[in-house]
Amino acid sequence: MIVPILTNISVPKAWASADYFNQEVIEMAQLEVKNLTKYYKDVLALTEVNFTVGKGEFVSIIGPSGSGKTTLIRCINRLVDATDGSIHYEGTDLLTLKGSPLRHARAKIGMIFQHYNLVTRLTVIENVLHGRLGYKSNIAGVLGIYSEHEKEKAIEVLSLVGLEKYVYRRCDQLSGGQMQRVGIARALVQDPAIILCDEPISSLDPSSAKIIMDYLRKIQNELGITIIVNLHQVDVAKKYAERILGFNSGRLVFDASPSDLTTDTIHHIYGAEAGELIIN
Ligand SMILES: Nc1ncnc2c1ncn2[C@@H]1O[C@H](COP(=O)(O)OP(=O)(O)OP(=O)(O)O)[C@@H](O)[C@H]1O
Ligand SMILES: [Mg+2]
Repeated sequence: MIVPILTNISVPKAWASADYFNQEVIEMAQLEVKNLTKYYKDVLALTEVNFTVGKGEFVSIIGPSGSGKTTLIRCINRLVDATDGSIHYEGTDLLTLKGSPLRHARAKIGMIFQHYNLVTRLTVIENVLHGRLGYKSNIAGVLGIYSEHEKEKAIEVLSLVGLEKYVYRRCDQLSGGQMQRVGIARALVQDPAIILCDEPISSLDPSSAKIIMDYLRKIQNELGITIIVNLHQVDVAKKYAERILGFNSGRLVFDASPSDLTTDTIHHIYGAEAGELIIN
């Protein structure tokens, strides 16, 4: 049972109940996940997952450890191969792509990781420019050849996350919060339509975590980039997301707005682990 799915697409409640919810709105879906199933050998990590995401939405994914959150994110950007189902991005099934079409689609989908995934012996700008690799030939990428425009763009996105003074600093001289801001800048320099984040604040103290979440919100608001973020912190998901997807044992069991995240629905998503997560 999935509770309480308002609509297949996240739209304001008033729209969902009105005539507004028509074919035109359905066609606005940017990402459409259908019957997504993933086995790791005999471990079933995702079971027939279905949802759509509209352009510019801020979606949080929550659920207990092992419920399939990371697997879902990794299926979307093809870091792991799904076993069955489809993931349409702007009309193309990402799961069928190979070679350069796959590289181009991936360039439009930025990724932010819990442990930042930076090359810490390199400078901030070198790490950010790695976000351009999806647009380059292998040779240019290996030789680290970037245009002046790409370097300007890297500095611009570093300013956007408040790191303009750290452009030439080595990443191993940064705090965790600063490293995650480099991670955001590296995703932004890709010129993405969607940014996927896997536990972006789990390694950070509360004040750095707030800064990162505020930047994600700013990116969504000002650049119109869709944000899909896995979070362990239910209160943070509730505060920032416009829509929450809840997973349990690889199944999508909740798809609704944060205001529908009640004690009962948290129990439904987290089962026995819900006790310490109940928020007022
Ligand atoms: N590479 C892998 N090989 C085998 N099983 C895996 C692999 N990665 C994940 N799994 C299994 O798939 C299921 C879903 O794992 P996943 O990492 O997606 O969960 P999660 O919700 O992200 O958990 P967490 O909150 O702990 O990060 C779990 O049962 C996990 O043990
Ligand atoms: Mg995970």
